[in-house]
Amino acid sequence: MNHPTDPHKMTQAGTSVGTHAGYMPGFGNDFETEALPGALPQGMNSPQRCNYGLYGEQLSGTAFTANPPERTWCYRIRPSVKHSHRYEKIELPHWKSAPCVDPDVISLGQYRWDAVPHSDGGLTWLTGMRTMTTAGDVNTQVGMASHIYLVTDSMEDDYFFSADSEMLVVPQEGRLRFATELGIIDLEPKEIAILPRGLVYRVEVLEGPARGFVCENYGQKFELPGRGPIGANCMANPRDFKAPVAAFEDREVPSTVTVKWCGQFHTTKIGQSPLDVVAWHGNYAPYKYDLRTYCPVGAILFDHPDPSIFTVLTAPSGQPGTANIDFVLFRERWMVAEDTFRPPWYHKNIMSELMGNIYGQYDAKPQGFVPGGMSLHNMMLPHGPDREAFEKASNANLGPDKLDNTMSFMFETRFPQHLTPFAANEAPLQDDYIDCWTSLEKKFDGTPGKK
Ligand SMILES: [Fe+2]
Repeated sequence: MNHPTDPHKMTQAGTSVGTHAGYMPGFGNDFETEALPGALPQGMNSPQRCNYGLYGEQLSGTAFTANPPERTWCYRIRPSVKHSHRYEKIELPHWKSAPCVDPDVISLGQYRWDAVPHSDGGLTWLTGMRTMTTAGDVNTQVGMASHIYLVTDSMEDDYFFSADSEMLVVPQEGRLRFATELGIIDLEPKEIAILPRGLVYRVEVLEGPARGFVCENYGQKFELPGRGPIGANCMANPRDFKAPVAAFEDREVPSTVTVKWCGQFHTTKIGQSPLDVVAWHGNYAPYKYDLRTYCPVGAILFDHPDPSIFTVLTAPSGQPGTANIDFVLFRERWMVAEDTFRPPWYHKNIMSELMGNIYGQYDAKPQGFVPGGMSLHNMMLPHGPDREAFEKASNANLGPDKLDNTMSFMFETRFPQHLTPFAANEAPLQDDYIDCWTSLEKKFDGTPGKK
């Protein structure tokens, strides 16, 4: 473009491109956002009087001295102490926390479940949570739990926060809205959301019934994995993570806040909506990510790499390289390796692997691992392709082959996972799963060169 009168005139971009309305791009950025003009103090955090008569308040996700600290400054209609009154204990019997080791439940084994069906009764995000496994100890902020959620009803004047955990949400069916203190996240299958520890929110059903998976992370927050020799690109790119812009409501109606704290649930009654943050800035915020933007890398000549190359997010433990939780994605991709057994090999693993199917067919198990279903291969228990997958992969004509219509994931943890009574007795467990390896035959007869 020519600017004959001013040769140094530059053409400046308008609002950022590629950003969906209502969200800000980037992973762990120091975001800033305000729902009313001038609500966010500039150049300082704690002015003597905040604009609009707002209260300044810090939400800390790490100890003050952690490096880097993760915290967000909120400018809200009321301070959070006004959203917390006396507490009354309640029971949510299907939502379990570690340690949850039932002497009548055997967790040693290979397990697989069909999709947990919806029930007739109305279920919310709180009453519809069904814990499948727990690992570690919620009281020492170590380990995790895996859940299925079955949600038909929106929370109305009901709010929730978990002091125990960061929640990773993986929808499989239906659409949900997470109306949070820090903004609105709409979520549908093929996306995930992360809700940080301590964040207050309510969950609305945009399209129901909704079903999906949750990984409750008791430990250090999820972060992007180290890329090592892969370098700066591919896998999950930081720009594809989206944090919500500020949103608030000024609604004075009798309301209930439910709190998960050290594995127990309590409610407190308040007189208004706690979603009253008008402006905020900081790096401790909810976010979502579109799994279709995950760029897988893999073998392009021979052999099958470890599944760690498909890590989307990792939650570290104190031991470097050994995650409290890895969130791993198995999505559409090309298989091109020559002279290679392409599906996952047979293995035993010190890590415990819980998988879920979002849609399609998984390459190591052509049958039985269905959308909405889960499988568990616990610490040091052998598993691998069933006979059908083994024979097909061993005899396939190895041209380039697209694995299409497939999206599964794994919650992998360094800790053994214990089944809940619900997982063992009520969820649709496939009793014959172990038999998928029974028909694998001995091929060895001492003849050299036999394949
Ligand atoms: Fe495995």
